[in-house]
Amino acid sequence: MTMVTNPTNCAAAEGAIQLLPGVHWVGALDPGLRSFDIILKTANGTTYNSYVVRGSAGVAVIDTVKENFSDTFFRRLESVADYGEITAIVLNHLEPDHSGALPELLRRAPQAKLYISSRGQPMLKGLLHGDRLAYVPTQTGTTVDLGDRTLRFLQTPYLHWPDTQCTYIEEDGVLFSGDVFGCHFCDQRLFNDAVGDFRFSFEYYYAHIMRPFRSHVLEALDLIAPLPLKLIAPAHGPILREAPQRYVARYRELSASGLKNEAADEKTLLIFYLSAYGSTRAMAEALAAGAEDASGVRVSLYDIEGGEVAPFVDLIEEADGLAFGSPTINGDAVKPVWDLLSSLTAVNVRGKVGAAFGSYGWSGEAVQMVEDRLRGLKLRVPVKGVRARLIPTVEELGECRALGRELALHLTGRQESTVIDMAALA
Ligand code: FEO
Repeated sequence: MTMVTNPTNCAAAEGAIQLLPGVHWVGALDPGLRSFDIILKTANGTTYNSYVVRGSAGVAVIDTVKENFSDTFFRRLESVADYGEITAIVLNHLEPDHSGALPELLRRAPQAKLYISSRGQPMLKGLLHGDRLAYVPTQTGTTVDLGDRTLRFLQTPYLHWPDTQCTYIEEDGVLFSGDVFGCHFCDQRLFNDAVGDFRFSFEYYYAHIMRPFRSHVLEALDLIAPLPLKLIAPAHGPILREAPQRYVARYRELSASGLKNEAADEKTLLIFYLSAYGSTRAMAEALAAGAEDASGVRVSLYDIEGGEVAPFVDLIEEADGLAFGSPTINGDAVKPVWDLLSSLTAVNVRGKVGAAFGSYGWSGEAVQMVEDRLRGLKLRVPVKGVRARLIPTVEELGECRALGRELALHLTGRQESTVIDMAALA
């Protein structure tokens, strides 16, 4: 029970940081990290936030840290609690950046009950490999009695894994929010009213971690927004003690539909293409004309060569149907098409209608490759794509027109999806 620093001190001294009397941060700083989960940039590093909550009848540890920061975590934890006092270990999320020190914590505090979301069992199995799999499954509303403090769980699945939950101290209005409201921003001053400007990190983190699950974010906000909130303590980045509701409101703004189709009753079809000599463009235009022939679909045509990827991703997220036209060069679709397709992991495109088309010189693999990628992204590809050798003939342009019309009929529900014979496509 030593080394407790006061709320204004920074975390450099490796002591626990007090949020409230009896509530401490015992996490770890990782200022040198430059990418997270391989794909996220982290110009300011990150923090792995874990917390200790002391009640009159028990002590809870909320989350741990990445495994190679365990020593720091245990030093901070030991400064505010003895292992024998710990009655509850809560994992809001079992990704290794938060569960890395869990196996060792379970060994040091074997009497403690482990609380995780019922959806977390497969992850727990993968993590502990049978070492100790006993846990208390939580639901929204499940509580843990610590005497004069009560922890209550809120299930927030997919933010960022299916197992994710938040934990709320009812008496204090403190929300331990897991990845929700977090960001990769390491500043040893820890609190949002003391650290540097982290708005970019907050928005970037939302865009890459939360945005694909916007509907789940809105469901989570319906649970969180009514709570009296004194402080939000996320699993990464600054602790939000100054105006925490502002961050809740920002999440709601970011999760609202970004673009408004003026004709809300129309379906939207976006056609993207690249064209070296005009052939794939002619096919794109024929496809657009065919789709417009069928009423009820608003068609937009974009030459990828003339656009940035980010705005296209925004458009794609709101669209109902997507068609991609790519020439085949050296047996492959062209790089800008792959770049746009690879950006779609940041948005939810599941269930949208997809299609591919393009001209080629001698082999023409691009259409099939793009179709495979679209299926991999869980789009429906209900109509076989169109290929044309070099300059499309009148008949091939007619096929493009028919493809556009078929897509429009699928989008407007006037054509039932059919099972594609994969062998016939080979
Ligand atoms: Fe911070 Fe999804 O782990």
